Amino acid sequence: MAGGIFITLEGGEGGGKSTQARKLAEALTARGHEVILTREPGGAPGAEAIRKLLVEGAGNRWDGLTEALLHTAARRDHLVKTVWPAVGAGKTVISDRFFDSTIAYQGYGHGLDIAALRELQRVAIGDFKPDITLILDLPARVGLARAHVRGGTETRYESMAVAFHERLRQGFLEIAADEPKRCRVIDADHDIDTVHAAIMSAVTTFLGKR
Ligand SMILES: Nc1ncnc2c1ncn2[C@@H]1O[C@H](COP(=O)(O)OP(=O)(O)O)[C@@H](O)[C@H]1O
Ligand SMILES: [Mg+2]
Repeated sequence: MAGGIFITLEGGEGGGKSTQARKLAEALTARGHEVILTREPGGAPGAEAIRKLLVEGAGNRWDGLTEALLHTAARRDHLVKTVWPAVGAGKTVISDRFFDSTIAYQGYGHGLDIAALRELQRVAIGDFKPDITLILDLPARVGLARAHVRGGTETRYESMAVAFHERLRQGFLEIAADEPKRCRVIDADHDIDTVHAAIMSAVTTFLGKR
């Protein structure tokens, strides 16, 4: 897709994705980028309606495959309505989560077949992928404690067992190891400004190579 840049932030609960996505958006706007800050599940009206089904309610509300299908349906709507038009118009799109979360949560977390999940992504979105993915890594318990303090109603995934969150952490690290060109692991177990500096260093290096 010509012109624009697609940046994604990934990682477990409470890693600081939403906080860092906002700070990255501000920093790139200050550098002259036309930034669209968006998120998954969500980022378009239909996808936001699906979001409510996924992030609220009981942990066992959906089985793993249903969850993956809902996320993937929301993702396609997000791409069609928001991401593809913006990237096509040369904008810098920053998404708080994207398809790596489906592989990590439903694949490594719930144990669904990862090859099948990748095939599902291919059917839904083709070979489109982020230009750069920042994986915010920290111990699951540290992130869950932060998320608990944050509060709110979007606690469905947080309510799942710590072992689930540890599995998806390992999943994100394996994804990063498999795709070192696209993915950068950021140590998120530091204060907000330190993590932001690490993200800016990774993104600046990436932009310099384009
Ligand atoms: N580096 C950090 N150190 C301590 N607290 C943080 C840090 N980054 C974010 N937080 C706080 O932790 C909570 C979760 O952060 P958030 O950005 O919502 O994480 P995520 O979007 O990855 O779930 C928020 O209350 C946020 O203010
Ligand atoms: Mg968040």
